Amino acid sequence: MITIEGVFAGYGSGDVLQGLDLSVEEGSVTCIVGPNGAGKSTVLRTISGLLKPRLGRIRLGEKVISGLHPADVLTAGVVQVPQQNGLFPAMTVRENVLLGGYVRRRDKELLRRRYDELSEMFPIVGERASDPAGNLSGGQRRMVEFARALMIDPWVVLLDEPSLGLDPRSLGLVNESVAAMRSAGMTVLLVEQNVRFGLGLATHGVVMESGRVLLTDTAEGLLANQEIGELFLGGVPG
Ligand SMILES: Nc1ncnc2c1ncn2[C@@H]1O[C@H](COP(=O)(O)OP(=O)(O)OP(=O)(O)O)[C@@H](O)[C@H]1O
Ligand SMILES: [Mg+2]
Repeated sequence: MITIEGVFAGYGSGDVLQGLDLSVEEGSVTCIVGPNGAGKSTVLRTISGLLKPRLGRIRLGEKVISGLHPADVLTAGVVQVPQQNGLFPAMTVRENVLLGGYVRRRDKELLRRRYDELSEMFPIVGERASDPAGNLSGGQRRMVEFARALMIDPWVVLLDEPSLGLDPRSLGLVNESVAAMRSAGMTVLLVEQNVRFGLGLATHGVVMESGRVLLTDTAEGLLANQEIGELFLGGVPG
């Protein structure tokens, strides 16, 4: 579904991604783990077009998407929920969610239908539709961020640290949301500091270090891998 080949990308002073190769299978939930600064967020930003690879290419199916403007990557069906997202706190939940459909703004009927579908997928969107987003709890806001991203009915959803800052109860909501995306046929690529949580909801896992892929396996395989356990899971509470 997504194929990354030999990608070098960074922020000007040098490359963060050092010849990254990675395949994300259609219908999978693939979780990237690795130490701080490994380049995990940079991978997502490069896929979504916020960063342009200096070398290498990224394909969505057969279509080359590296080098496209972020809006065109979005239109191609790839949406990113960033690590530091922001809902507009003074705007209602409904208004925030509808913003996600901006690239399809001319098709009002489609947006209305899609909004209704998302209110079923994320009940909080329907229940709190008229409340300012700023009144919601952290976990509820995360659901609204997901709903906003899914307004375009994407093929691929990129999630950067979806568990960050959430209490244990809200983690369950994130887990259910990712499962719902998968059931709806979407391919999910996520990045997680909480390695057990991330691999726990994934089908496939990728270990990154210093801008390269160190290892890929099924999520189960990585969780059972003793070396990975010692490297990454030792200090992380389950
Ligand atoms: N906007 C930026 N400008 C310059 N350098 C950046 C920028 N964003 C990230 N970097 C640098 O790129 C490297 C990789 O960062 P990245 O955010 O991809 O890592 P990460 O694996 O997501 O880390 P974390 O687990 O801390 O989120 C780091 O050395 C970081 O300092
Ligand atoms: Mg990051």
